[in-house]
Amino acid sequence: MIAEIAVVIPTFNERDNIAPLHSALSRSLSDCNWEAVFVDDNSPDGTAARVQELGQHDSHVRCLLRLGRRGLSSACIEGVLATAAPYVCIMDADLQHDESIIPRMQELLRDGRFDVVVATRYATAGGMGTLASGRVRLSRLATWVARTLTRVPVSDPMSGFFMFRREWFARIAPRLSGRGFKILLDMLLSSPAPPRYAEVAYKMRSRMHGESKLSISVVWDFVMLLAHKLSGGAIPARFISFAAVGMSGVAVHMLVLGALHRWAGFAFLIAQTAATGAAMTSNFVLNNRLTYPDRRLHGVAAVRGLLSFYLACAFGALVNVALAGWLASKGFPWWGAGLLGVVAGAVWNYGSPGILTWRDTSR
Ligand code: GDD
Ligand code: MN
Repeated sequence: MIAEIAVVIPTFNERDNIAPLHSALSRSLSDCNWEAVFVDDNSPDGTAARVQELGQHDSHVRCLLRLGRRGLSSACIEGVLATAAPYVCIMDADLQHDESIIPRMQELLRDGRFDVVVATRYATAGGMGTLASGRVRLSRLATWVARTLTRVPVSDPMSGFFMFRREWFARIAPRLSGRGFKILLDMLLSSPAPPRYAEVAYKMRSRMHGESKLSISVVWDFVMLLAHKLSGGAIPARFISFAAVGMSGVAVHMLVLGALHRWAGFAFLIAQTAATGAAMTSNFVLNNRLTYPDRRLHGVAAVRGLLSFYLACAFGALVNVALAGWLASKGFPWWGAGLLGVVAGAVWNYGSPGILTWRDTSR
């Protein structure tokens, strides 16, 4: 018989949480037909094997294994697309989310008045578990930004725990960006009509085993997703990130140029060349972490990537230094010559280094 509720659970290195979560779900969903779709990105700790083992004894359990891929949002999307159940719930694997409220969430969806029910940590009955206070503040700030910018007044648009009707999801799926952590926000922003939502409060528990994958690059990704949506989807998130990193490179350049030329007394051309090198290096490091977190280069590959990035930037850097040197010799102030050199170099370099260094060899 077809499942009525599907619980989609993205996993990365959650091996020891699988069995406890499975028992918790079996307990709270015993009254209905349900299935759990674990979407694992080939976790090195062997999470998928643990799920498959369970699946051999319990047909409620399915494992969707993705090879050579990473990403919470895209894992959720593919998990939802892989089920035929009319009601779908998304939750973390780490037992932070209280599975006992799933039947209530389904109850709310059943009569068709709502598209999505969000389990929220902020309503009075909810709680934040033992999230570090820095995380709580970051989470509040992100919530405030999201609510102000998107005018979707849901109290916890960052929630990773929510339920919806599959029909509704199927309509918005083609518009989802699929990047980053913020699958709910992405869905709310992608809905053609204002989403009809309800909220159910719950008390967030502490993570059982393993560690959180929320990192600075995840937060950055979230901001880029907002910027992308605010541009009406016209400007790709990666481009916005690339441009922001480029701007930071200009700041690095001017700081190094000023320090070397004005403060340490190096000749302009030497200072301009060193500043160009420093900016290229910092651009590489930031792009590798923030713009291409899903294709991030490590170890030897990162060194090779850096060299190819220098190579790809070389012509622009040459244009930059030559023009700046010429302008300085014509009596331009050091900062004006330096800045114009950077702009000229950037015009040539626009896009090409990123495309070469992080080219997608898997497709
Ligand atoms: N397949 C897959 N691929 N799963 C992933 C990946 C990935 O790249 N990254 C994380 N996950 C899984 C984790 O294994 C976990 O089950 C779930 O996604 C959430 O990741 P956590 O690492 O537990 O995130 P968190 O608890 O710090 O963040 C939670 O709270 C945020 C709000 O503060 C999540 O629920 C977020 O969705 C939520 O926005
Ligand atoms: Mn979690």
